[in-house]
Amino acid sequence: MRAALVTGASAGIGAATAEALLGAGYRVAVNYGSRTDLAQAFAARTGIPAFAWNVADPVACRDGVARVEAEIGPVEVLVNNAGITRDAMLHKMSFEQWREVIDVNLGGCFNMCRAVIEGMRERRFGRIVNMGSVNGLSGQAGQCNYAATKAGLIGFTKSLALEGASRNITANVVAPGYTDTSMVAAVPSEVLSQILKSVPAGRLATPAEIARAVVFLVSDESAFITGITLSINGGKYMP
Ligand code: CAA
Repeated sequence: MRAALVTGASAGIGAATAEALLGAGYRVAVNYGSRTDLAQAFAARTGIPAFAWNVADPVACRDGVARVEAEIGPVEVLVNNAGITRDAMLHKMSFEQWREVIDVNLGGCFNMCRAVIEGMRERRFGRIVNMGSVNGLSGQAGQCNYAATKAGLIGFTKSLALEGASRNITANVVAPGYTDTSMVAAVPSEVLSQILKSVPAGRLATPAEIARAVVFLVSDESAFITGITLSINGGKYMP
């Protein structure tokens, strides 16, 4: 039974991924940032232990991984799902809005991968999935910061895939389209209804539809799939 850690998993895609991994037989732990009520309710409902730390903080990530490993054993599967938006047109975007998104979405991926990669290399096994976005591929007005991080994750992941291949460590990106989560619910409704018109499937994705792809990519049998970006966007964008 392999051990899996999912970040940013108090709700939404992270929580759905953790539950799907549990259902597939993994020992699972989740990280969350600040939504303690949601995380505790999730842990109580699923039995999955939830640990709070800020993925933007490299020391907190190292310590957090140590706490997780004391509970479920060495992390063999890492899903970097933690992410935030601070949407604004560039001409209105503050340096703080830029910096926060870079630090969490891209810095968090570095910090978490850095905290587990040596163990994965020693054990000659690892599965890493980084949560991208359709908007990292297509661009999105109001998201110069967010789209830059999601595009950046792709270059990061391809490089890590090259480094890990000889050690049976795979690294892939899952790039969801607009999904039924609180992040998307925060988009102004008139903007969201315009966006939905550009989705051929005519609806949001469910978190479970994204989780399903993660479970596929992290399985032992997916050993030859590495460095890819798997789009799940209802036809909105086909790179
Ligand atoms: N494409 C092009 N131009 C757009 C646009 C779009 N999609 N949306 C707005 N604009 C233009 C408007 O037409 C307007 O142009 P003019 O000034 O020339 O008239 C200009 O942008 C400013 O519009 P607003 O007055 O509405 O600006 P605002 O500052 O109040 O809000 C915004 C701008 C914050 C970007 C807002 O439109 C918004 O929140 N958009 C949604 C962005 C989005 O899709 N975020 C995704 C979040 S979910 C997520 O990220 C998950 C995932 O991975 C998919």
